[in-house]
Amino acid sequence: MKPGTIVYTGKSKSGKEIIFRYPTENDLHMLRDYINTLSKEKTFIIFQGEQVSLEEEKKYLDSQLKAIAEEKSVQLLAFSEGRLVGNTQIGLQSKAIKHIGVFGISLAKEFRGEGVGTLLMEKIVKEAKKNLKGLKIITLECFGNNEIARKLYGKMGFRTFGNLPKGIIYRDTPVDHIYMFKEV
Ligand SMILES: CC(C)(COP(=O)(O)OP(=O)(O)OC[C@H]1O[C@@H](n2cnc3c(N)ncnc32)[C@H](O)[C@@H]1OP(=O)(O)O)[C@@H](O)C(=O)NCCC(=O)NCCS
Repeated sequence: MKPGTIVYTGKSKSGKEIIFRYPTENDLHMLRDYINTLSKEKTFIIFQGEQVSLEEEKKYLDSQLKAIAEEKSVQLLAFSEGRLVGNTQIGLQSKAIKHIGVFGISLAKEFRGEGVGTLLMEKIVKEAKKNLKGLKIITLECFGNNEIARKLYGKMGFRTFGNLPKGIIYRDTPVDHIYMFKEV
Protein backbone atom coordinates (compact mmCIF):
# COMPACT_ATOMS: atom_id res chain seq x y z
CA MET A 1 0.00 0.00 0.00
CA LYS A 2 1.19 3.52 -0.81
CA PRO A 3 2.71 5.45 2.14
CA GLY A 4 0.16 7.82 3.66
CA THR A 5 -2.93 6.08 2.25
CA ILE A 6 -5.94 6.94 4.44
CA VAL A 7 -8.17 3.96 5.24
CA TYR A 8 -10.58 5.46 7.77
CA THR A 9 -11.89 8.84 8.91
CA GLY A 10 -14.40 9.09 11.74
CA LYS A 11 -14.91 9.89 15.42
CA SER A 12 -14.23 8.21 18.76
CA LYS A 13 -17.15 7.50 21.13
CA SER A 14 -16.58 10.88 22.85
CA GLY A 15 -16.47 12.70 19.50
CA LYS A 16 -12.71 13.08 18.94
CA GLU A 17 -11.64 13.17 15.28
CA ILE A 18 -9.85 9.97 14.22
CA ILE A 19 -7.92 9.21 11.03
CA PHE A 20 -6.20 5.89 10.28
CA ARG A 21 -3.52 5.89 7.60
CA TYR A 22 -0.41 4.08 6.45
CA PRO A 23 2.90 5.54 7.69
CA THR A 24 5.27 7.73 5.68
CA GLU A 25 8.94 8.57 6.23
CA ASN A 26 7.83 11.95 7.61
CA ASP A 27 6.27 10.24 10.67
CA LEU A 28 9.70 9.48 12.15
CA HIS A 29 9.82 12.11 14.93
CA MET A 30 6.19 11.55 15.96
CA LEU A 31 6.72 7.79 16.12
CA ARG A 32 9.84 8.17 18.25
CA ASP A 33 8.05 10.51 20.69
CA TYR A 34 5.00 8.20 20.74
CA ILE A 35 6.92 5.05 21.70
CA ASN A 36 8.99 6.91 24.28
CA THR A 37 5.85 8.30 25.97
CA LEU A 38 4.24 4.83 26.06
CA SER A 39 7.46 3.34 27.38
CA LYS A 40 7.64 5.88 30.23
CA GLU A 41 4.04 5.04 31.12
CA LYS A 42 5.03 1.37 31.57
CA THR A 43 1.77 0.20 30.07
CA PHE A 44 1.24 -3.32 28.71
CA ILE A 45 3.98 -3.21 26.06
CA ILE A 46 7.49 -4.65 25.91
CA PHE A 47 9.11 -1.21 26.37
CA GLN A 48 9.09 -0.58 30.11
CA GLY A 49 10.86 2.75 30.46
CA GLU A 50 13.62 2.21 27.87
CA GLN A 51 13.98 5.17 25.51
CA VAL A 52 14.39 4.82 21.75
CA SER A 53 16.83 7.05 19.83
CA LEU A 54 15.98 8.69 16.52
CA GLU A 55 18.43 6.33 14.77
CA GLU A 56 16.76 3.24 16.25
CA GLU A 57 13.32 4.53 15.32
CA LYS A 58 14.51 5.28 11.78
CA LYS A 59 15.65 1.65 11.41
CA TYR A 60 12.22 0.45 12.59
CA LEU A 61 10.35 2.84 10.29
CA ASP A 62 12.56 2.10 7.25
CA SER A 63 12.10 -1.65 7.72
CA GLN A 64 8.34 -1.20 8.11
CA LEU A 65 8.07 0.96 4.96
CA LYS A 66 10.10 -1.61 3.02
CA ALA A 67 7.99 -4.53 4.31
CA ILE A 68 4.76 -2.66 3.48
CA ALA A 69 6.01 -1.93 -0.07
CA GLU A 70 6.85 -5.64 -0.46
CA GLU A 71 3.39 -6.63 0.85
CA LYS A 72 4.94 -8.37 3.86
CA SER A 73 3.42 -6.03 6.41
CA VAL A 74 0.46 -3.74 6.95
CA GLN A 75 0.54 -0.86 9.40
CA LEU A 76 -1.92 1.84 10.37
CA LEU A 77 -1.23 4.95 12.42
CA ALA A 78 -4.11 6.68 14.19
CA PHE A 79 -4.15 10.47 14.21
CA SER A 80 -6.35 13.01 15.94
CA GLU A 81 -5.99 16.67 14.95
CA GLY A 82 -2.51 16.01 13.63
CA ARG A 83 -1.35 14.13 16.74
CA LEU A 84 -0.20 10.51 16.52
CA VAL A 85 -2.41 8.59 18.97
CA GLY A 86 -2.18 4.95 17.92
CA ASN A 87 -0.19 2.35 16.04
CA THR A 88 -1.03 -1.14 14.82
CA GLN A 89 0.61 -3.59 12.48
CA ILE A 90 0.49 -7.15 11.20
CA GLY A 91 3.81 -8.44 9.88
CA LEU A 92 4.06 -11.60 7.80
CA GLN A 93 6.68 -14.13 8.91
CA SER A 94 8.95 -15.94 6.44
CA LYS A 95 9.98 -19.43 5.26
CA ALA A 96 8.05 -22.28 6.95
CA ILE A 97 5.93 -19.76 8.89
CA LYS A 98 5.23 -17.39 6.01
CA HIS A 99 1.47 -17.97 6.42
CA ILE A 100 1.54 -16.37 9.88
CA GLY A 101 1.09 -12.66 10.56
CA VAL A 102 2.06 -11.17 13.92
CA PHE A 103 -0.25 -8.47 15.29
CA GLY A 104 0.50 -5.57 17.62
CA ILE A 105 -1.50 -2.52 18.78
CA SER A 106 -1.25 0.45 21.12
CA LEU A 107 -3.08 3.70 21.76
CA ALA A 108 -2.09 6.88 23.57
CA LYS A 109 -3.53 6.95 27.10
CA GLU A 110 -6.07 9.73 26.41
CA PHE A 111 -7.59 7.78 23.51
CA ARG A 112 -8.30 4.46 25.22
CA GLY A 113 -11.71 3.12 26.20
CA GLU A 114 -13.49 4.97 23.39
CA GLY A 115 -13.82 2.19 20.84
CA VAL A 116 -10.74 3.28 18.86
CA GLY A 117 -8.85 0.04 19.59
CA THR A 118 -11.77 -2.05 18.33
CA LEU A 119 -12.01 0.03 15.15
CA LEU A 120 -8.26 0.02 14.56
CA MET A 121 -8.10 -3.75 15.00
CA GLU A 122 -11.00 -4.32 12.59
CA LYS A 123 -9.29 -2.14 9.97
CA ILE A 124 -5.82 -3.68 10.26
CA VAL A 125 -7.20 -7.23 10.02
CA LYS A 126 -9.10 -6.16 6.90
CA GLU A 127 -5.93 -4.61 5.42
CA ALA A 128 -3.97 -7.77 6.24
CA LYS A 129 -6.50 -10.04 4.51
CA LYS A 130 -6.42 -7.77 1.46
CA ASN A 131 -2.67 -7.20 1.15
CA LEU A 132 -0.72 -10.05 2.76
CA LYS A 133 -0.59 -12.89 0.29
CA GLY A 134 -0.77 -16.37 1.80
CA LEU A 135 -1.86 -15.12 5.24
CA LYS A 136 -3.70 -17.90 7.08
CA ILE A 137 -3.20 -17.27 10.79
CA ILE A 138 -2.77 -14.11 12.89
CA THR A 139 -1.01 -14.46 16.24
CA LEU A 140 -0.51 -12.03 19.09
CA GLU A 141 1.06 -11.87 22.53
CA CYS A 142 -0.45 -10.23 25.57
CA PHE A 143 0.34 -9.50 29.22
CA GLY A 144 -1.82 -11.84 31.32
CA ASN A 145 -3.08 -8.94 33.44
CA ASN A 146 -4.10 -6.81 30.44
CA GLU A 147 -7.84 -7.31 30.90
CA ILE A 148 -8.94 -4.74 28.31
CA ALA A 149 -6.72 -6.13 25.55
CA ARG A 150 -7.83 -9.70 26.33
CA LYS A 151 -11.45 -8.61 26.15
CA LEU A 152 -10.80 -6.89 22.82
CA TYR A 153 -8.98 -9.91 21.35
CA GLY A 154 -11.67 -12.34 22.49
CA LYS A 155 -14.31 -10.10 20.96
CA MET A 156 -12.36 -10.14 17.67
CA GLY A 157 -12.37 -13.97 17.63
CA PHE A 158 -8.85 -14.69 18.93
CA ARG A 159 -8.32 -17.79 21.08
CA THR A 160 -5.59 -18.52 23.61
CA PHE A 161 -3.14 -21.26 22.61
CA GLY A 162 -0.40 -20.73 25.13
CA ASN A 163 0.48 -19.28 28.49
CA LEU A 164 3.99 -18.90 29.83
CA PRO A 165 3.54 -18.54 33.61
CA LYS A 166 5.45 -15.52 34.91
CA GLY A 167 6.71 -14.92 31.37
CA ILE A 168 6.65 -11.13 31.71
CA ILE A 169 7.92 -8.78 34.40
CA TYR A 170 5.33 -6.05 34.67
CA ARG A 171 6.31 -3.20 36.99
CA ASP A 172 8.50 -5.58 39.06
CA THR A 173 5.81 -8.28 39.27
CA PRO A 174 5.96 -11.49 37.18
CA VAL A 175 2.75 -12.01 35.20
CA ASP A 176 1.70 -14.62 32.63
CA HIS A 177 2.58 -14.18 28.96
CA ILE A 178 -0.47 -15.14 26.87
CA TYR A 179 -0.35 -16.27 23.23
CA MET A 180 -3.45 -16.03 21.04
CA PHE A 181 -4.36 -16.81 17.43
CA LYS A 182 -7.08 -16.50 14.84
CA GLU A 183 -7.44 -18.23 11.48
CA VAL A 184 -8.36 -15.83 8.68
C1 LIG B 1 -5.54 -2.47 24.43
C2 LIG B 1 -6.03 -1.27 23.64
C3 LIG B 1 -5.43 -1.24 22.24
C4 LIG B 1 -7.59 -1.39 23.52
O1 LIG B 1 -8.09 -0.30 22.80
P1 LIG B 1 -9.27 0.60 23.43
O2 LIG B 1 -9.65 1.62 22.43
O3 LIG B 1 -8.87 1.08 24.77
O4 LIG B 1 -10.42 -0.49 23.59
P2 LIG B 1 -11.96 -0.32 23.21
O5 LIG B 1 -12.47 1.00 23.74
O6 LIG B 1 -12.15 -0.59 21.76
O7 LIG B 1 -12.59 -1.48 24.09
C5 LIG B 1 -12.35 -2.85 23.90
C6 LIG B 1 -13.14 -3.63 24.90
O8 LIG B 1 -12.61 -3.44 26.21
C7 LIG B 1 -13.57 -2.86 27.08
N1 LIG B 1 -12.96 -1.74 27.81
C8 LIG B 1 -12.33 -0.67 27.29
N2 LIG B 1 -11.89 0.12 28.27
C9 LIG B 1 -12.28 -0.46 29.42
C10 LIG B 1 -12.12 -0.13 30.79
N3 LIG B 1 -11.47 0.99 31.15
N4 LIG B 1 -12.59 -0.97 31.71
C11 LIG B 1 -13.24 -2.10 31.36
N5 LIG B 1 -13.43 -2.49 30.07
C12 LIG B 1 -12.95 -1.66 29.13
C13 LIG B 1 -14.66 -2.30 26.22
O9 LIG B 1 -15.86 -2.41 26.91
C14 LIG B 1 -14.57 -3.11 24.97
O10 LIG B 1 -15.44 -4.20 24.98
P3 LIG B 1 -16.95 -4.03 24.47
O11 LIG B 1 -16.87 -3.42 23.11
O12 LIG B 1 -17.46 -5.43 24.43
O13 LIG B 1 -17.63 -3.16 25.41
C15 LIG B 1 -5.71 0.08 24.38
O14 LIG B 1 -6.40 0.14 25.60
C16 LIG B 1 -4.22 0.28 24.62
O15 LIG B 1 -3.48 0.73 23.75
N6 LIG B 1 -3.72 -0.05 25.84
C17 LIG B 1 -2.32 0.14 26.20
C18 LIG B 1 -1.35 -0.66 25.35
C19 LIG B 1 -1.78 -2.09 25.21
O16 LIG B 1 -2.30 -2.69 26.12
N7 LIG B 1 -1.56 -2.67 24.04
C20 LIG B 1 -1.89 -4.05 23.75
C21 LIG B 1 -0.70 -4.90 24.00
S1 LIG B 1 -1.08 -6.64 23.87
